[in-house]
Amino acid sequence: MDFTCVHEVSSGACEDGGTVTYKGVDRGIQVGKMDRLMMMMMIWATLMALLMAAIISQARKMRRSHKRARLPAGSPGWPLVGETLEFVSCAYSPRPESFMDKRRLLYGKVFRSHLFGSPTIVSTDAEVSRWVLQSDGRSFVPSYPKSLMELMGKSSILLINGNLQRRVHGLIGAFFKSSDLKAQITRDMQCFVQRSMSSWTNERLIHIQDEAKHIVFQILVKGLIGLQSVTETQFLKQQFKEFIAGLMSLPVKLPGSRLYRSLQAKKKMVTLIKSIILEKRKNNRGRTPLDVVDVLINDASDQLTDDLISDNMIDLMIPAEDSVPVLVTLAVKYLSECPLALQQLEEENMQLKKRRSLPGEDLQWTDYMSLSFTQDVITETLRLGNIISGIMRKAVRDVEIKGHFIPKGWCVFTYFRSVHLDENHYDEAYKFDPWRWKDKDMSTCSFTPFGGGQRLCPGLDLARLEASIFLHHLVTNFTWVAEEDQIVNFPTVRMKRRMPIRVRRKT
Ligand code: HEM
Repeated sequence: MDFTCVHEVSSGACEDGGTVTYKGVDRGIQVGKMDRLMMMMMIWATLMALLMAAIISQARKMRRSHKRARLPAGSPGWPLVGETLEFVSCAYSPRPESFMDKRRLLYGKVFRSHLFGSPTIVSTDAEVSRWVLQSDGRSFVPSYPKSLMELMGKSSILLINGNLQRRVHGLIGAFFKSSDLKAQITRDMQCFVQRSMSSWTNERLIHIQDEAKHIVFQILVKGLIGLQSVTETQFLKQQFKEFIAGLMSLPVKLPGSRLYRSLQAKKKMVTLIKSIILEKRKNNRGRTPLDVVDVLINDASDQLTDDLISDNMIDLMIPAEDSVPVLVTLAVKYLSECPLALQQLEEENMQLKKRRSLPGEDLQWTDYMSLSFTQDVITETLRLGNIISGIMRKAVRDVEIKGHFIPKGWCVFTYFRSVHLDENHYDEAYKFDPWRWKDKDMSTCSFTPFGGGQRLCPGLDLARLEASIFLHHLVTNFTWVAEEDQIVNFPTVRMKRRMPIRVRRKT
């Protein structure tokens, strides 16, 4: 539009400052008004056109993104309880994945449900689950049952996000990977295993789950807080038992309730651990760390307060205390049912024992980790046993993964068990077959017993090492006959009768 005044009329000042000659003032004013009207109409029309274009483009975009990312198919189940009851009833059965199998057939590998009071997207798709695990706290945060969150507290490593989580995870992970710690754990584990097995007389009934638990707990408290006193370890063990009994309880904190008693037990443990920290701060500052408390108090960051450290020592026991004993127990169960694998494991371990039978020549952690078939047995036990069947996260913003839309506030349940038992990933998936791991790549997204991403289990090497040492001493010193028992999968994986075996010492 031309804004200069072109006029044949008499002279005067144009409104926009230009000089004009006006011939007829009235007509000039009328023409100016018309121009302005035209101008406004055109501006208005242009604005409307732009607005329409924006609306159409937005609608197209939304249609496209709707096509790309859709809320997965599924069912919200019953009001309030959703599909929780069916999930739990399947979880108690020998085939917990039957809940997922049924829905995978109906809706595909990723579907929506309503579990434990929350709308939930369930992923049995290895790639989608990997995406979720790899995402940081800007997309997903850990999500646990309310009672568990209450017991852990806000500063727990299992709940915190961002820099502090990365810092604590990094410090602990580096310490757990250090060869000094592995050497110390190997010495301690050998000592505890030998001490425990020395009392196993012929034909005695041994409960593998109890034995493994007892040994692993001692290793754990020594590695975390440097505790060696038998009475204090016993006290901590009792309190920890009381503490974890409330992990899956109703979120009611009234005196006498299960959750209340668990919180009281945690308080007692925190008091003991705080006194150990105080002692260490006085005497051990700056020394080569021998346990996780040493590592954390040596760190210069003032975020790592005594409260945070003592709380976290107990939270660190949650993923570690039960999982390694269960790994050992399941390995013994699967080996008892597969004589060929047991025989090969025994041969491999006997060869190592003979190689290193000179007096004073103790086995090193590298010796155990180099037993390739033993490692394959452990890997296969992790796959088939699914000690941690899956992980819950909560979306803190709308997220789109592989065309699946996950709305903000929804939970995602990455269910590893279905992936580990998927015939598309593993031939005869329900068969214990340690030979399948010979030369097979373990670092694929279809094998995630230790999770992945920023929260990948920092204790994975230790778990393998402890299991290898236990199995070595068992198969090189004993033969056994296993009694009838069965796996319980919920709320945690364990053996119903604690895996009883009748042992006989080898001559
Ligand atoms: C068979 C044995 C074990 C299994 C199957 C296992 C499995 C897992 C899994 C799946 C996670 C990921 C949790 C998540 O992403 O939210 C995890 C985390 C963790 N595990 Fe393990 N674990 C085992 C042994 C251990 C041991 C022996 C320790 C310590 C001594 C340990 C310490 C931890 C810690 C501290 C975390 C939390 C990491 C974080 O959130 O930053 N675990 N474990």
